[in-house]
Amino acid sequence: MRYCTIGDGRTTFDVSTLCLGTMNMGTLVDEDTSFAILDRYLEAGGTFLDTANNYSSWAGGYGRDSEDLLGRWLATRGVRDEVRLATKLGAAKKDPALPLQNVAPTNYQGLAADVVEREAHESLRHLGVDHLDVLYGHVDDLDTPLAETVGAFGKLQAEGVVGITGISNVALWRVVEAREEALRQGIAPYGLVQQNLTYVYPTPEPGRHNWASYELLDYVASTGTPERPPLAVVAYSPILQGAYVRRDKPLWDGFDHPTTRERVRTLHEVAGQTRATPNQVVLAWLLGGEHPVIPVIGPSTVEQLDELLGAADLDLDPEIRARLDAV
Ligand SMILES: NC(=O)c1ccc[n+]([C@@H]2O[C@H](COP(=O)([O-])OP(=O)(O)OC[C@H]3O[C@@H](n4cnc5c(N)ncnc54)[C@H](OP(=O)(O)O)[C@@H]3O)[C@@H](O)[C@H]2O)c1
Repeated sequence: MRYCTIGDGRTTFDVSTLCLGTMNMGTLVDEDTSFAILDRYLEAGGTFLDTANNYSSWAGGYGRDSEDLLGRWLATRGVRDEVRLATKLGAAKKDPALPLQNVAPTNYQGLAADVVEREAHESLRHLGVDHLDVLYGHVDDLDTPLAETVGAFGKLQAEGVVGITGISNVALWRVVEAREEALRQGIAPYGLVQQNLTYVYPTPEPGRHNWASYELLDYVASTGTPERPPLAVVAYSPILQGAYVRRDKPLWDGFDHPTTRERVRTLHEVAGQTRATPNQVVLAWLLGGEHPVIPVIGPSTVEQLDELLGAADLDLDPEIRARLDAV
């Protein structure tokens, strides 16, 4: 396993470069299997766990299933100090009676100050911890003034409840404005932005703000100065939920186009040459690129995890990377 340093100009710590997503734990993945995955990840040197306050309400759960399971695992294993915990708020149901949909009207709880305050403390309770290493806004909230959201995150940091803050599923301009607002308020700005990123690209789609665009990566590369504190990208769904290798996992909407088919063909050729699996090549491509990111993997079994862990120390030859990039 390899490690990288994340920070926001005030708080800094190291995390493993492969983050473990726990979205389906406690719902689609049963408790025994989830514990086995968590144990194996820790044993392999993994230190960065990702959850949210709504995992996984769309998979038969009530929304805190993943946090609750993580809380039980942390308590029984006694390993709170060996891991860095990230959770998210803002995309749980505002009205529990209505479905959780991601198109307007969304029924998201949003990022108003009272929601941030309440939900962060609920996450502490469900996880059974006294601080969150990372707290993200799960989705942007255009109806709440940025100054209010930023101030609410800053209050939690000042109280020692939260280390680094972040935001997910967001337009670049909003990330930049929020970070500038934080600096104006004397608050540490978002240090992480969590977006979808993988080897294939979605077709351009107006209003799609959940992709880690090249422009975002370029902005991130410009950070790390006193005037512009560091910002890192965390990449969710990095193996497209298995679509690179599984017939039962069709490509998502917007990903099925001629360039994708050519990239997937090249990916399989390259994987054959490197004796790595296509999933491992994708993760190595994300980890070792011009703009390195932290992939959040979401295995459902220990076997799937073991395959993905094989990417942690995999370096792609420059010619291989150039070939992958060229498509
Ligand atoms: N910020 C956000 O809005 C957001 C959105 C999505 C996810 N996330 C975070 O990112 C994490 C990962 O997301 P994700 O689950 O979409 O990521 P992913 O790793 O791309 O997909 C995980 C799925 O891929 C399949 N899979 C995993 N390892 C495999 C392997 N070695 N071979 C073949 N198939 C494999 C499994 O499907 P089966 O279960 O069918 O076997 C698994 O459920 C989540 O747990 C969550 O923490 C965040």
